[in-house]
Amino acid sequence: MLYSDKVLEHFTNPRNVGEIDDADGIGEVGNAKCGDIMKMYLKIDEGNITDAKFKTFGCGAAIATSSMATELIKGKSIDEALKLSNKAVIEALDGLPEVKLHCSVLAEQAVKAALSDYYTRKGLDPLLYVGELKEIEH
Ligand code: FES
Repeated sequence: MLYSDKVLEHFTNPRNVGEIDDADGIGEVGNAKCGDIMKMYLKIDEGNITDAKFKTFGCGAAIATSSMATELIKGKSIDEALKLSNKAVIEALDGLPEVKLHCSVLAEQAVKAALSDYYTRKGLDPLLYVGELKEIEH
């Protein structure tokens, strides 16, 4: 079996799909090679992520990893969300096939892009808090 049960489960029944109308941060990232796009919406209150939703136009692994990423950051502090690595998302999903690892990077980067937007809206330099968003490679 290529995909773990958890990946299949999050792909067929993704959590937190949709948009947040009054989001405090919105991030959109894409992978230039496969053309997949992920959009992340965050609601933030006093430094905590109170809600997260996403829309992913992409492969099954991208949908499963964005679903898991939103589950992992909901209720967490911004600092904890910034530490969310694609590896942590993969572990929570019981692994991903090698050729699909880059899809999980999309999820990590979408969270960081939304937090960058949050800081930008506050008039703060996101580079100081979030750092550079790394290139997504295949
Ligand atoms: Fe593009 Fe998975 S193939 S994100």
